[in-house]
Amino acid sequence: MKKIFLTGERPTGNLHIGHLFGTIKNRLKIQKKYKIFIIIADNQLNKIEKKEKKKNIKKLIIDYLTVGISFKKSCIFLQSEIKELLELEYFLTNFIDINTLKRNPSTKNVIVKKKNILCRDFLYPVSQASDILLFNANFIPVGKDQIPMLEITNKIVRNVNNFYKKKIFRKCKAILSKNKNVIGTDGKNKMSKSFKNAIFLNCNKEKLEKIILSLKTDHEKKTIYSPGNYKNSLVFNYLKIFLDKKKYTKIKKMYKLGSISDMETKKILFNKAWKKINYFNKKRKNIVKKINTDYIIKKNNRKAKKIAKKRIEIIKRSTSNFF
Ligand code: TRP
Repeated sequence: MKKIFLTGERPTGNLHIGHLFGTIKNRLKIQKKYKIFIIIADNQLNKIEKKEKKKNIKKLIIDYLTVGISFKKSCIFLQSEIKELLELEYFLTNFIDINTLKRNPSTKNVIVKKKNILCRDFLYPVSQASDILLFNANFIPVGKDQIPMLEITNKIVRNVNNFYKKKIFRKCKAILSKNKNVIGTDGKNKMSKSFKNAIFLNCNKEKLEKIILSLKTDHEKKTIYSPGNYKNSLVFNYLKIFLDKKKYTKIKKMYKLGSISDMETKKILFNKAWKKINYFNKKRKNIVKKINTDYIIKKNNRKAKKIAKKRIEIIKRSTSNFF
């Protein structure tokens, strides 16, 4: 069975360290061996987010290049440029019931905040299924929160295949990153732009310092050098991903014994994080000077379009021109 990898992002701005240690790390590993489709999911933006679409797509492309995603090895393209995706999405709406869509956690999240719930709000999982099925992808590198979306895709696959009594689509499987979800600076939610709890990869020094200094630590400690509980300190959440295992374990032990203060743990984190972010900031500056983002995305759009056209014909034929 041919392995096809596909994943995507909504273009809402710069990448943050949650992306970096989650999905990006995963993609870089996969990229060494396989081609991967990366969809810039601009159809999934809401009306307000769409106003910033152009600017944010550019930011995302530049960040992809900055972290080492290759436009030659990976096929990164714009969802809205592939009209076949909409055609397939419309077809797929015949094969999923509204109650399943209502139960999807991402959909629920969107609709609880709204007075005026739109038809479109229920269709994100179908749009995602269309992305996956049009490109015949069977491995999807995503965060844990996207698993229910993939379950809906597989339900659609079952329903279509059962209806036609043949294998039209194949099932997909999530490839989860080791670091599951990176927690945001609020200590509660997954790091995300929408929760305003993210450390962005284009952060400047002062901003990073401010964020790290205000991270919650173990406030039950009586004095600076009392034994601390690292589980109550958000700093350790990030030290865990920035440091190698040996160094992390050492600092954790010191914290438990009270031989390192909160301020010192914050300094270690700041130095480590700034080194990485500053490296990216320098690299990004060069990329901005050299790269024409419009040109590279157009080239990839054409490649994706060619594949999409072929696939939709195959799907149409095998479903007796249902749509
Ligand atoms: N919904 C995903 C997100 O918000 C983005 C996405 C769009 C995606 N299409 C996809 C992810 C297909 C995996 C596969 O992050």
